[in-house]
Amino acid sequence: MCGVSLGRVTMREKESITIHPARNILGSLRVPGDKSISHRYAMLAALAVGHSRFENFAPGADCASTLSCVEALGCIVARDEKGMVTVDGLGAQLRAPVASLDCGNSGSTMRMLSGILSGQLFGSELIGDASLSRRPMKRIIEPLTQMGAFISSAEGDRAPLHIQGSKLNAIAYRPAVASAQVKTAVLFAGLLAEGQTTVEEPARTRDHGEIALRAFGAEVERNGNTVGIQGGQTLKPLEAYVPGDMSSAAFFLCAASLFSESNLVIDGVLLNPTRSALLDILSGMGSRISMVRVEESHGELVGTITLMPGKGRHVRIEGAITALLIDELPVLAAIAPFTAGGLEVRDAGELRVKESDRLNAVTRNLQAMGARIEQTEDGWRIPGGQQLHGAEIESFDDHRVAMAFAVAALRASGDSVIHNAECVAISYPAFFEDLERLVER
Ligand code: S3P
Repeated sequence: MCGVSLGRVTMREKESITIHPARNILGSLRVPGDKSISHRYAMLAALAVGHSRFENFAPGADCASTLSCVEALGCIVARDEKGMVTVDGLGAQLRAPVASLDCGNSGSTMRMLSGILSGQLFGSELIGDASLSRRPMKRIIEPLTQMGAFISSAEGDRAPLHIQGSKLNAIAYRPAVASAQVKTAVLFAGLLAEGQTTVEEPARTRDHGEIALRAFGAEVERNGNTVGIQGGQTLKPLEAYVPGDMSSAAFFLCAASLFSESNLVIDGVLLNPTRSALLDILSGMGSRISMVRVEESHGELVGTITLMPGKGRHVRIEGAITALLIDELPVLAAIAPFTAGGLEVRDAGELRVKESDRLNAVTRNLQAMGARIEQTEDGWRIPGGQQLHGAEIESFDDHRVAMAFAVAALRASGDSVIHNAECVAISYPAFFEDLERLVER
């Protein structure tokens, strides 16, 4: 197969994949290391003086973008085939890059790295692919500018971003959107600022930024929805195993929930409560889920999940919980027509500014499969008890859309073809191989 190199991950050229209907999902697997944690570990390792080492580092192109940026900022980065990554960090002051920092498709790289670049005494430019160049950046430009960085961008809100870092001052910030990327960007800048920076979240979001900062030796305080960090703390290097990504596990859990005879075990997966709300939703939809061998690793909960399906009720997702499920909503919507009670999602307008407009992408693909679905401004209404047919599916170059519809296609009558399916390499290069291993036909 032909390939083009993207960072250190090979992204295949445009590819269509045919998914045949399945009878069952059976077996056990480990999913790739968590993407959110891998980004944060790599960035904080850059700011620690010395040698950090991570096993099971996320294999996708997004985290490869972060690693190549960290390398371009003067750190020595090494990676092997088995998912081991080492970073030799330079401490709070990194080196000026000689070229633009390419964030590829990765919003996490661009937004969180901006926090670090704001506190550097040099200028840098962050660029991204067509999708990333459409995504809103004002949400980080605003607080980082208040802290003292000089940031210019296309139309005041879009990449490329030119960041002239400076000595930063601490701020007390209340973002308008519940976004872990924004919170983390401000906390990373806060680490480099003078004084105590606080972020008051409008709703709780994933807390890996705070947990990772503590794992690297920093003190971070939490009081309700407010997180605070004192500037000027020194980070020490970390050796850690990255837990399996719950947002990747979600595709298999949702697939297994579609077949009454499924029995699925996922080992070593992240069970952080800010990431595992999906398990409650799947329980509501009827699945019996158990967690065993739960332990803590550098502040993160990890364990083994087993899922056996059953009949459930209608589920409504709205309010604060949408922020905790944001990456799992596409696949939940994709399986919703097959559930007994259907699904209603509200307050999820953020889905419009992800790698694609995910509200629209899911609606279009479910309609192509013959589903009844109503799209609202900030969600969907999807009746349950539907039988769908195979269809031509468009990924919209969005990894989570491609994977969500590979799952839905397993329960459709007839084959489906997913176009531009190579985008799964953004987070999960071996997704189709792993899915095929668990499918019974
Ligand atoms: C992420 C936060 C979420 C999520 C993204 C990863 C993170 O984005 O959708 O995939 O690692 O902090 P927002 O912060 O934009 O909600």
